[in-house]
Amino acid sequence: MYELMAWLEGSALADFLRGLGIWTYGLLNLGHILGIGSLFGAILLLDLKLMGLWRSIPAASLIRPTVPLAAIGFALAATSGIMMLSFNTTEYHGNPFIYAKFPIIVVGLANVAIIQRLGAWRRAAAGAPAASGDRTVLAIFGALSLLIWTSVIACGRLIGYW
Ligand code: HEM
Repeated sequence: MYELMAWLEGSALADFLRGLGIWTYGLLNLGHILGIGSLFGAILLLDLKLMGLWRSIPAASLIRPTVPLAAIGFALAATSGIMMLSFNTTEYHGNPFIYAKFPIIVVGLANVAIIQRLGAWRRAAAGAPAASGDRTVLAIFGALSLLIWTSVIACGRLIGYW
């Protein structure tokens, strides 16, 4: 792990970013926060809907805007995050919160891939009538997603306190 961290810290990307000036890290952090805000804002709405809130709003009406917004937010958070990490990667060596954060992100992405393959999700996204059990399945995946992404945010925030 340390070797990988040292490689990122010594990479051409890291050299380039560090050479851009004193505002670079702050602006990347701003990008990270905007990405997290878009990702989590979209996911919060979607997951609460999957968990049974706002019954009068069709799931498809929320799925349509929130899924692309979450994807854009994730792309922004991941890009800015890798760039921030490259500034002084080896300083994070041994930090349990950064070691926990990445596997949890992987679990979160796996959860997205799985839910989108479920019949319950496909019916909901297409606005088709729900089959029996759909509500429970979607509520379980929605709750899981909320737990996962809240944990990612908690780990991200706690990195700096270790
Ligand atoms: C590949 C993806 C990511 C990388 C490499 C990454 C990397 C980082 C780094 C290096 C920091 C600064 C830690 C510090 O020194 O305090 C950070 C902060 C943070 N990250 Fe990420 N991150 C990624 C994705 C995410 C995602 C998807 C989320 C949320 C869903 C997230 C949430 C946070 C939070 C809440 C902070 C604290 C921000 C602050 O207090 O200014 N990160 N991340």
